[in-house]
Amino acid sequence: MAAPPILTTHSAVTPAFVARLPKVELHVHLEGSLTPDTVLRFARRNGLGLPANTAEELRAHYTFTSLSDFIRVYLMCAGTLRTPLDFAEATTEFLAFQATQNVRYVEAFVAPKLHVANGADVDTILTMIVDAAAESYPQTGVRLGLIVDVGRLYGADLSVPLARAAVRHQNRGVVGIGLGGDEASGPPSLWRESFALARDGGLHLTSHGGEIGGPEYVWSAIRDLGVERIGHAVAAVRDPVLIRHLVEQRIGLELCPQSNVQIGVVSSLQEHPFGVFREAGALVTVNTDDPAIFANPLNDEYLAVAQAFALSPHDLCQLSLNAVDASFLATPDKALLRGEMISDMNAALASIGWPPLPLSA
Ligand code: ADE
Ligand code: ZN
Repeated sequence: MAAPPILTTHSAVTPAFVARLPKVELHVHLEGSLTPDTVLRFARRNGLGLPANTAEELRAHYTFTSLSDFIRVYLMCAGTLRTPLDFAEATTEFLAFQATQNVRYVEAFVAPKLHVANGADVDTILTMIVDAAAESYPQTGVRLGLIVDVGRLYGADLSVPLARAAVRHQNRGVVGIGLGGDEASGPPSLWRESFALARDGGLHLTSHGGEIGGPEYVWSAIRDLGVERIGHAVAAVRDPVLIRHLVEQRIGLELCPQSNVQIGVVSSLQEHPFGVFREAGALVTVNTDDPAIFANPLNDEYLAVAQAFALSPHDLCQLSLNAVDASFLATPDKALLRGEMISDMNAALASIGWPPLPLSA
């Protein structure tokens, strides 16, 4: 007789519950959120060639087996953003999409290096994004904290003026700087100057680390750059001392499980260190990275981890509240958002017959 199927999903975690759960996203790229239709529209109006004429044809190019392969696709999409209007429209569409995932607050990366190389002005880019976000807030109810990705592309020297631009836009929607791109381009310590500048200017700091680089890249981001959060952090699982450090220092982990599966960083969701980090007591959050390329809206991401790691409705609420704690919001804003979210979470829990969250949540 065949063995009974192993059910890992907690039966109460339904798509309807996840859709109703208020969420915060901390690791998502504006450029990786341009839908194929938008990429085509921007390319057409900017007179740019693409290897596709329809969204379906474009999506057929979204195949990758490595980070560098993925970055080629990401740069193709990002390269269609040229004019101030493009940045405004991309932001409006992005926030409307976040609203469909019941995201209340999102910290999103924009990586100006490529855009500046294509002739755009960094101050104009940042202004267009934060102004479009303020304008769309009454319709979407989604607030944006912008993170300037000073990026591994083109090396560390060109990152310094971007860090300065981020500081100029502090208190006008920019909350921090980040370091994305291909870790093969060198250790985080190369970006020390940009991060020191941003920190001295009062910005928050995060870096992609341990996506394809080893645990030493995560250590370097913490020790040399002074980051408060790490994006991906997959390789940290190989270093128990590092795991302990992440837990003790409450360093937020911006985990992006389905991104890691699609790029081939881990072979399956079950192999992802999410479970190890969570059980160790780390401040884990779940994020999409590039939802228009990976086709993984945040609701899907929550459902996928719930399934792979047998999470309960209360566990998912905690995951979402972790993102409030790890966010770059000021402490009073965190408390406000947390209160609003807990009340909506309790209503969502009641709708599936679950008790409210314990008071300490
Ligand atoms: N930029 C967009 N997505 C990225 C990723 N997963 N890693 C590094 N840089 C990125
Ligand atoms: Zn990323």
